[in-house]
Amino acid sequence: MKIACFASGSGSNVEALFEAIEAGTLHASIELIVCDQPDAAVIERAKRRGCDVFVFRAKDYPDKPSFEREIIARLEAKGVERIILAGYMRLIGEELLGRYAGRIVNIHPSLLPAFPGKDAIGQAFRGGVKITGVTIHIVDEGMDTGPIMAQEAVRITEEMTRETLQQAIQRVEHRLYPQVIEEWMKEEANV
Ligand code: GAR
Repeated sequence: MKIACFASGSGSNVEALFEAIEAGTLHASIELIVCDQPDAAVIERAKRRGCDVFVFRAKDYPDKPSFEREIIARLEAKGVERIILAGYMRLIGEELLGRYAGRIVNIHPSLLPAFPGKDAIGQAFRGGVKITGVTIHIVDEGMDTGPIMAQEAVRITEEMTRETLQQAIQRVEHRLYPQVIEEWMKEEANV
């Protein structure tokens, strides 16, 4: 299955997907990384892996449909069948949703519907909750909404800091995301 990953930041989840592919536990090939932040560390990670990257700045386009049409052209040129959002901090618009309906998946660092949007880990930490976690869901037009595919809880203990909580959440993300994507692709293949 040919996939593309969309990311805006460090790309540790993209790295986990590359590793799962290398280990033979994820049967996919990452054809393209799409990144909206020219300084993001994910760009270097992708290049080290020899993976093509499309970097764009939203402000260079008149509107979201314009840059999404450009993205779609690049995805189609590579034969991409599924889109994996991995820390892509932008709402998916109607062009991409129309072309890849039901075939875009997202990971979010909270137990949705709690703490959607930016800095979900900080929101949970400051909120004083004792349990947060990770959600993987199909993308719709909302922010961190759409049918939930998998969730895993992470306990916030007394001794945790914001940083150690983030590390605990990312450990879960890096294990769970490749597993859920593999299952999802198998289910789709059997339909
Ligand atoms: C991840 O924790 C992901 O769950 C989160 O961004 C981080 C990206 O980390 N996504 C969202 O908050 C989406 N609303 P990474 O660049 O190291 O993979």
